[in-house]
Amino acid sequence: MIVGVPTEVKPDEYRVGLMPAGVDQLIRDGHSVVVQSGAGLGIGFGDSDYEAVGASIAPDAGEVWAKADMIVKVKEPQPAEWPHMRHGQVVFTYFHFAADKDLTLACLEQRICAVAYETLEAPGMSGKPALPLLTPMSEIAGRLATQEGAKYLERPQGGRGVLLGGVPGVEPGKVVVLGGGVVGSNAAQIASGMGADVVILDIDLDQMRHLEDVMADNVTTIYSDPHAIRKYLAWADLVIGAVLLPGAKAPHLVSREDLKIMQEGAVIVDVSIDQGGCVETSKVTTHGNPTYVVDGVVHYCVGNMPGAVARTSTHALNNATVPWARRLARVGPHEIAARDAGFAMAINCDDGRLLNRPVAEAHDLEVATA
Ligand SMILES: NC(=O)c1ccc[n+]([C@@H]2O[C@H](COP(=O)([O-])OP(=O)(O)OC[C@H]3O[C@@H](n4cnc5c(N)ncnc54)[C@H](O)[C@@H]3O)[C@@H](O)[C@H]2O)c1
Repeated sequence: MIVGVPTEVKPDEYRVGLMPAGVDQLIRDGHSVVVQSGAGLGIGFGDSDYEAVGASIAPDAGEVWAKADMIVKVKEPQPAEWPHMRHGQVVFTYFHFAADKDLTLACLEQRICAVAYETLEAPGMSGKPALPLLTPMSEIAGRLATQEGAKYLERPQGGRGVLLGGVPGVEPGKVVVLGGGVVGSNAAQIASGMGADVVILDIDLDQMRHLEDVMADNVTTIYSDPHAIRKYLAWADLVIGAVLLPGAKAPHLVSREDLKIMQEGAVIVDVSIDQGGCVETSKVTTHGNPTYVVDGVVHYCVGNMPGAVARTSTHALNNATVPWARRLARVGPHEIAARDAGFAMAINCDDGRLLNRPVAEAHDLEVATA
């Protein structure tokens, strides 16, 4: 099969779908790989690095999409890429369909086979299904959320001028994490390591038991309900939104009204923004212009946070995606799906049929039965 790697076109996105090491493996498996010129530059790989492992270089995106049976990329196809998609083409990338009806309709219309990283399921350590292709980016986004939150708490950045770690004789910053899954636990771990007081709110008691076991003493878990959320919003310097209802739009845990009880200059980092955000006043921002202020509260809502640390992110993403890309190139999505129900969850649409129920519900569309 011919595998294509286009250059990412989302603003400030420096990651690339496949690094030369992954391309090398696909070529050794007997496939051809066509890479758009400059696709790896954002993380320091030139065209010659791809040519050295046997890839061919295409001058533009149109040629990559036209030649490839399977596209491997990072972010959801952007409107400029939609006309390139074609019937039966496998597109293996993040889609986040629930947050974007136009993208969903474009993929149905072009009748691609959309294999979404974020809904591919595999058995997790605790027995409940994990999302192994979302996990590495969630780890990065969680750690970065605290780093960005700490930055925007600085007064010149619009924040309330609080140092998360405090100093001897001065209390540390207060961090509230909504959702203690992968993003939330990584955010809490970094905040705790910086010396902040951290509260994680979640509804999964088993997960909270686990967090109590592994987190340091400056981290507390609290059951998430509207009363608890309001109590800790009033207390927080930094709020990190990290909830997920798999495949569905994030629930609004913080309303516009709730902002009034927050402290002036407090910061919200809404990592869930790629699923619509868990704060009513969140709207997607970019790395170029990451924040805005509503009712005195700084909002950071970058939809592709891991893109800021593109080198770390591309390595972490490829560690998880390349084995699946190799399987897809070897036997194709339908054969894998027939044997692996977790993988079947990743096929969100195929041949004009929408197969993911939460996405269908989010957009009032019909879900196909098989
Ligand atoms: N913006 C970005 O760049 C970026 C990057 C990676 C992940 N994300 C997003 O971050 C979000 C979290 O991802 P994750 O991998 O940590 O998911 P996860 O499933 O590991 O964790 C989500 C947690 O939210 C909890 N939760 C559900 N409802 C809740 C409620 N009402 N109150 C409190 N907690 C609740 C769940 O119990 C779970 O522990 C997702 O929306 C994901 O798409 C965004």
